[in-house]
Amino acid sequence: MTPRPLFLYALCGSQRQVSTSRRLLEALQLACPEGITIEICDLIGDLPIFNPDHEGEKTPPVVEKLAEKIRKADGLIVSCPEYAHGIPGGFKNALDWLVSRDEVPFKPLMFAHASHRGDLVLEQLADVLRTMSLRIVSEAFLRLPIAGKSDELQAEALAEARDNDLLLTSLSRFADAISAEG
Ligand SMILES: Cc1cc2nc3c(=O)[nH]c(=O)nc-3n(C[C@H](O)[C@H](O)[C@H](O)COP(=O)(O)O)c2cc1C
Repeated sequence: MTPRPLFLYALCGSQRQVSTSRRLLEALQLACPEGITIEICDLIGDLPIFNPDHEGEKTPPVVEKLAEKIRKADGLIVSCPEYAHGIPGGFKNALDWLVSRDEVPFKPLMFAHASHRGDLVLEQLADVLRTMSLRIVSEAFLRLPIAGKSDELQAEALAEARDNDLLLTSLSRFADAISAEG
């Protein structure tokens, strides 16, 4: 049986123009086998500060847009740096908007981590996302330490990861876990 096409929505925790977290997501996008599409979210920097008074009928359109993308996604990919031993404020703000909504519970999620450091943010994110009832697919976890490297060394590491099927292996494990759920 041909597996159904999968749409993955990728959330980047860094707003930097030359973010290594984003670069890793872009590399995953390029490594997608046929039948898997990744779209990288560009809405996180546009979200207003979360306020429970602005939920329900008062929900800002940009939040509805983000939520709709997440609703349509078969799975989420999160790539997020560590700031001051924790989750960057802008990214936590995006998660806060999603807490009380029905798009995220049971949504499969994989981490793509672009640093050799940042284990604290991974732990904290896992706790927050599990509290939001997302399903973390730990066997798909991808760590490719390109943070702090020159542009050239980043490109080399990403090319090597592509050639060694490191990117594809994570994506395939994620896709298998999603497909196994039906
Ligand atoms: C404000 C700030 C705080 C940071 N705090 C930490 C930290 O606590 N632990 C750590 O490992 N790295 C820390 N870093 C380094 C970033 O996590 C690292 O540079 C990361 O790769 C940046 O991701 P990006 O390239 O996607 O923007 C910090 C960086 C900034 C800008």
